[in-house]
Amino acid sequence: MASRGKFSSKLGFILAAAGSAVGLGNIWKFPFEVADGGGAAFVLIYLVFAFILCFPVMVTEIAIGRKTQKNPVGAYEALGFKKWKFLGMLGILSGILILSFYNVVAGWAFGYFLEILRGNFEIGNNFSIYIAQIWKVGIYGTVFMGVTAFTVSKGISGGIERAAKFLMPSLLIMIIGLAFYAMSLPDAGAGIVYYLVPEFSEVTFEVVYNALGQAFFSLSLGMGALITYGSYVSKSDNIINSAAWITVMDVGIAFLAGLMIFPFVSYLTNGTMENFSGGPGLIFTTLPGVFSSLGETLGIVVGSTFFLLLSFAALTSTVSLLEVPVTYVVDELKVSRKKTVWIVAILIFLIGVPSLLSNGYSSFFTNFVTYFGATSPTNFMTLVEHVGNDTFLPLGGFLITVFAAYVWGKNNLIEELSEGNPKFRDGRMKKYIDFTISYLCPVMLGIIFILTFLNRFFGINVF
Ligand code: PHE
Repeated sequence: MASRGKFSSKLGFILAAAGSAVGLGNIWKFPFEVADGGGAAFVLIYLVFAFILCFPVMVTEIAIGRKTQKNPVGAYEALGFKKWKFLGMLGILSGILILSFYNVVAGWAFGYFLEILRGNFEIGNNFSIYIAQIWKVGIYGTVFMGVTAFTVSKGISGGIERAAKFLMPSLLIMIIGLAFYAMSLPDAGAGIVYYLVPEFSEVTFEVVYNALGQAFFSLSLGMGALITYGSYVSKSDNIINSAAWITVMDVGIAFLAGLMIFPFVSYLTNGTMENFSGGPGLIFTTLPGVFSSLGETLGIVVGSTFFLLLSFAALTSTVSLLEVPVTYVVDELKVSRKKTVWIVAILIFLIGVPSLLSNGYSSFFTNFVTYFGATSPTNFMTLVEHVGNDTFLPLGGFLITVFAAYVWGKNNLIEELSEGNPKFRDGRMKKYIDFTISYLCPVMLGIIFILTFLNRFFGINVF
């Protein structure tokens, strides 16, 4: 059998996994969740969740992958639990669903990069018209999926790792540069205050639960992306240490995104932060307004850098999303990586076509379903997001922790985590992972799954 490939170094793995984690979630979703959730109060809760709840799930996923050196489905079988293959399947399905719409948004970001580069700042006022122009966004989406597939087709060290080694440092430089620039603008201070002064009165249960969902999605957990990447990690690497780096990088970049976006918005609104809107509006409508107000040349430089940054962040994530089904097919059906990559990418692109059409072009997909008890319809793309991200990921995370703690067994997990980290066996970190994986994570993730399910599809708000 041909070799599966491997990350060439620990750093290569950390950058690739951090690349998976750092994505649209950090730059697009994080800032507005912060705005809705009491500023720094949300940031604090987010940090606690990332390190206390998500970190143990991350090390578990990586450990399962490295132990078995298999895709998520094959991994459960290799550990001797054929019945749990469904959990791997659920992960692969989540990856396919998420990639199908994530690629659409990534295509928008890439399209904006090209538009702003041409000096078309008006695009910001025409966002809803733009996303309904199916040929345009369709072509950008095709290009994005094509670049993703090309990267994955080159294999682990020659494709994914190599791309991450270029994209991640570039992304870091761009985001630091933009954050400094944004903070030097007039009225930046008010934006920073808005971002960093905690409003604990705004913290509701819903905010807490959004923070957990966001941390989970942002760290790429619950679908086996890290089982997959973990299967290419060397036995001599210290998993705990790598996972700590991945978490720090992800959280750090989300934080920097806030330092860039809040001052930008504050500058545009003369420090009032009025109409600080969340969602796509913030990135695709408000920010082009900021860039245009900087004047032609500066606006083009700053604006195109921003959308290039967003595209880079998205690319390292789409690459990891595509790698999950690809590793599965390559491992299980023993077909060549190149062929598999292109076929899988085309299929997922096709699955994403209704999402592409559901932003105004086709009224059927735009008004796709009306949830029980809801007054307005939900479009196809949001439905896929609700199923893929909001429901499947916490469900997958819950089941992975139950599997690791009670089926595979904590001792086996601890053994694997001790490979490359012999001190782990008798340290405090071991106790911590043991406790969180056995009790805290399954309970919290189980609750999140049930609450989201009731909320998203039945409009039931338990809070
Ligand atoms: N973590 C990515 C982001 O924040 C999204 C993602 C989720 C990527 C799951 C891979 C797997 O954008």
